[in-house]
Amino acid sequence: MIVLAIESSCDETSVSISKDGKTVLSNVVYSQIELHQSFGGVVPEIASREHIKRITVIFEKAFVEAGVAKEDIDLVAVTKGPGLIGSLLVGINAAKAFAFAYDVPIVGVHHLAGHIYANQIEEEMEFPLVALVVSGGHTELILMKDHYAFEKLGETHDDAVGEAYDKVARVLGLGYPGGPIIDKLAKEGTPEYPMPHIRTKGVYDFSYSGLKSHVINFLNRKKMKNESVDEKNMAASFQEAAIRHLITQSENAVRDYDAKMFIVAGGVAANSHLRDEVAKKFPHVKVSVPPFKYCTDNAAMMGIAAYYQYKKNKTADAMDLNGYSRLKLA
Ligand code: KG4
Ligand code: ZN
Repeated sequence: MIVLAIESSCDETSVSISKDGKTVLSNVVYSQIELHQSFGGVVPEIASREHIKRITVIFEKAFVEAGVAKEDIDLVAVTKGPGLIGSLLVGINAAKAFAFAYDVPIVGVHHLAGHIYANQIEEEMEFPLVALVVSGGHTELILMKDHYAFEKLGETHDDAVGEAYDKVARVLGLGYPGGPIIDKLAKEGTPEYPMPHIRTKGVYDFSYSGLKSHVINFLNRKKMKNESVDEKNMAASFQEAAIRHLITQSENAVRDYDAKMFIVAGGVAANSHLRDEVAKKFPHVKVSVPPFKYCTDNAAMMGIAAYYQYKKNKTADAMDLNGYSRLKLA
């Protein structure tokens, strides 16, 4: 089965063609990051306009790179949410137009299912598995007992881990997105600044607002006293505390649910310290972290997820092209 997938939930316009939920034939990603950098974050209106400008070119490129004809597509998949509404609609309308023109079924796929299925591209999922989903908007632990069956074990009470990285970077004056910048700086520093112990209600839950506020208040106090802060050591201290919390809660879930596999998904899965810790801390289970190119938003992961979604339930999130769409934005 050849799947055409489109992802436009935030600031990446991406189109991919994949085969049988495994082989990625093409995965074209256009990142708008440079356009948003001077604003310190993604500007929704700019994002949707840019998606409109780019999508047709990226579409054609995905077909050329895959060496596949339009008539060969068996299923169209598109990110249905969560994401920026104006951005999502660009991808959804492109997907609908293609499905209508070539008379193929179309399904809407949850963005986080895509991030999770990025782990099925180079590895084989084994169940039960625990997935740690870490991005700019989400920090969650998910239990999967089978393909395309997701049970949420816990989530953040407040900020997502990626959001905390981005805010701390902004206060340090480091630019956007903050995650990769802090990650790089942290490697050159030592975690010598004390950080608060993170407490949560549940053992699979997360909380990042306390850690974030601690760093911001500490930096402000230092500034008021005209005292300097070592950026590298601050980055290392924040990173150490942020990742330790992810590992501790994940260890609880993997142990309690007797998981055979532990996977990490989402933009923060690109974090080098998290990748090192995951490799060390889960010796008894199969571990998977996607290759860098599949960590941040891309359409390949959406196409792989769509294959399993469609295989499991052909009518789940199918879009009705005759008139209105049954698709609910997540
Ligand atoms: O999954 P993603 O591309 O978009 C969302 O769906 O949110 O994740 C983006 C988030 C941003 O907060 C970014 O700072 C973070 O992932 N990120 C990182 C790293 N690379 C990206 N955070 C920590 N370390 C990194 N190396
Ligand atoms: Zn994402």
